[in-house]
Amino acid sequence: MALSRRHLLAAPAAFAATTLLPGPALAALAAQTPALPDLSDWEAVRAQFALDPAYLHFASFFIASHPTPVRDALEGYRRAIDANPFLFVERAMFEDDAHNLPLQVCAEVAEYLGGRGDEVCLARSTTEGLALVYHGLPLQPGDEVLTTVHDHYSHHESIRLAATRANATMRKATLFKQARDASVDEIVGNLKAAIRPQTKVVGVTWVHSSTGIRLPIRDIATMLRSLPDPPLLVVDGVHGLGAVDDTVGTMGADYFCAGTHKWMFAPRGTALVWANATNWGRLRPLVPNFTEIESYNAWTEDRPPAGPANAARMTPGGFHAFEHQWAMAAAFRMHRQMQRPRVAARIAAMNDQLKQGLAGLPKVTMHTPRAAALSAGLVAFEIEGVAPTDVVKQLLARRIIASTSPYAVTYARLAPSLVNTPDEVDAALRAVRVLAS
Ligand SMILES: Cc1ncc(COP(=O)(O)O)c(C=O)c1O
Repeated sequence: MALSRRHLLAAPAAFAATTLLPGPALAALAAQTPALPDLSDWEAVRAQFALDPAYLHFASFFIASHPTPVRDALEGYRRAIDANPFLFVERAMFEDDAHNLPLQVCAEVAEYLGGRGDEVCLARSTTEGLALVYHGLPLQPGDEVLTTVHDHYSHHESIRLAATRANATMRKATLFKQARDASVDEIVGNLKAAIRPQTKVVGVTWVHSSTGIRLPIRDIATMLRSLPDPPLLVVDGVHGLGAVDDTVGTMGADYFCAGTHKWMFAPRGTALVWANATNWGRLRPLVPNFTEIESYNAWTEDRPPAGPANAARMTPGGFHAFEHQWAMAAAFRMHRQMQRPRVAARIAAMNDQLKQGLAGLPKVTMHTPRAAALSAGLVAFEIEGVAPTDVVKQLLARRIIASTSPYAVTYARLAPSLVNTPDEVDAALRAVRVLAS
């Protein structure tokens, strides 16, 4: 007998449950998760957030405040699970595909990414996604993973841990001298010059949280594909997804990893990895999955799963904070309703306003490129004579929430996002002007 999804890891009692499917629970859930509000103006979008109005929030990229549609979806799923944990989770995870909530989430996410639902792996953080990819790659002794000096701790450590295990090596290239005046040619040229015959994988970050620079991923991918033996391209996309108007499915990344709990406003503890079927097929899974029936069938038959890996097989299994994972769909729906080009234009306009203001301050050095094409939603800067941590402290004393970049060389950061207004950007500029005077 062919096993269905509902048999996957379900206890025998699950069979008795088929006649008691929680259809009413699903209907109740739909009632608890109302349709999206009108999000056609930015005040309406801001009103979705329960942020403390006593502060101006310029560090929303750090971790999301859940907007109302996400809070409603989370609460709906939480109530439904609390009311009937076995039946609700059983049906949502292991029943027929039509009621499978992870499949619905993947389909919703894929619509936004410009890919297919079966290309999406749901994870819990950018860090976890990067670790899954690098540890999944079949690195051989002597292979090299080339990354850059500019990437985040989570990216470097994912590479280092995976390379160490495989007796492979990692190396860090420098893409530019100064982020603020880097050019596409400089970035692509420096990366190309750093590639060696043993370079099998290149790992870069789309939008850097150190300086706010946005890398030209499409140009990098085109350059890599022009090489005789193209390395695979892994992209940490966390600060581009939800802030930049680009289509992940066509941008040229072989593996795209991003937390969705930053610019996407999806529930905290949610993330995705996107790859096409060929690239998923190259990987070796690390964590047993609860999503692919072939893995379960193979286990019951005491054999390895047949065929290449895929997104479902790579998806970390075990029971999770399901209400968080399933409520991801509400955030992606919200972004689709706001429209990616509008979101990106709003973020770019306020960041440009901030950069223009900072550029006029004599004691301020900005590290983020002025060009919109090479930046996104983060502005990194220094004030002569004031340590970045003191800049952040002094802004906080004025109820402005900024942050410092967690890198060996650290800067102060302000990140205008959809929770801000142009007036708030002016207020932040006035405060920086006082500190820089
Ligand atoms: C560039 C970059 N990559 C990865 C991470 C880690 O993200 P997560 O918390 O989703 O693992 C961060 C954190 O902000 C980051 O700035």
